[in-house]
Amino acid sequence: RRESGLASSYLYLFQEFWCPGIAIEGVKGFQKYFQAKDNDVVVASFPKTGTTWLIALTFAIVNRQYFSTENHPLLTSNPHTLVPCLEFKIFCDDIHDPVLHLSNMLEPRLFSTHTPFTALPKSITESNAKIVYICRNPFDTFISAWTYFNKIRSMSLPALELEEAFEMYCNGIVSFGPWWSHMLGYWKESMARPNKVLFLKYEDLKENVNFYVKNIAEFLGCPFTAEEERVGEIESIIKLCSFEKMKELEVNISGKLDKFIDNKFFFRKGEIGDWVNYFSPSMVNKLSKIIEEKLCGSGLSFKICS
Ligand code: A3P
Repeated sequence: RRESGLASSYLYLFQEFWCPGIAIEGVKGFQKYFQAKDNDVVVASFPKTGTTWLIALTFAIVNRQYFSTENHPLLTSNPHTLVPCLEFKIFCDDIHDPVLHLSNMLEPRLFSTHTPFTALPKSITESNAKIVYICRNPFDTFISAWTYFNKIRSMSLPALELEEAFEMYCNGIVSFGPWWSHMLGYWKESMARPNKVLFLKYEDLKENVNFYVKNIAEFLGCPFTAEEERVGEIESIIKLCSFEKMKELEVNISGKLDKFIDNKFFFRKGEIGDWVNYFSPSMVNKLSKIIEEKLCGSGLSFKICS
């Protein structure tokens, strides 16, 4: 066990990743009891890499025939309540009987997870369930994580200084870390099985979200028709899920996900390159070297500035 790293609770080295204490039972329950269906969609991510955005987009894409943009659940609910997290919501104490709950969910079922690929249950990896993964450049991910966890920790743990948090991050001691193993696990699988795992980057979505909305829809077997494109369905989804739109919704201003997490914590700046406002030259040097060393030869690289 570590004192407390970049997380909202103590971190434990569990199955070769740093699992927040509050998620261990959830991960175990998920591994033991979850039965994937072939049409399940799992949005996987390392924390603070754009999960909220991707689950909103995926929810809107998959359910587009049911809702109009004027009367959409994303206008009144935070995306995390519409797409439950397997280890934090479904298999945590929130839901009395997770298996019954899962069997009652509308299909296709949409879930999110931060669990590394290597720790996913076989039921997911060996079924036809699809995985959409998002990651983000490690510089912005770090600043986003540091600011986020300090907001949550303020309830029970003292805030982490930037330097202390950075040391832990460089050593991989962060919720669901090391971040390099998390990314590489899904990256390798997406290379080996492109029909199983769609690997996305936050920076690419920021640059051309229209392309990736189509890409996600095709990957999930529900491509946009020419008619949908003509009437602007893609643009409506992009607008509905945009940072500016979601941040100003009442539910994301005053709502709470649970007793520790305010919905507004998920919407900070939503930019590429905010790290420049925090990093010293030696931090840039150190993190650049780690990225080079850990990702070397994998073919995975990141854009770090806008
Ligand atoms: P910043 O802290 O850099 O602003 P996650 O959803 O995985 O927790 O990631 C949170 C990060 O995604 C935050 O980054 C947040 O502002 C950003 N974000 C949340 N919703 C977004 C959206 N709809 N579009 C773009 N970025 C978004």
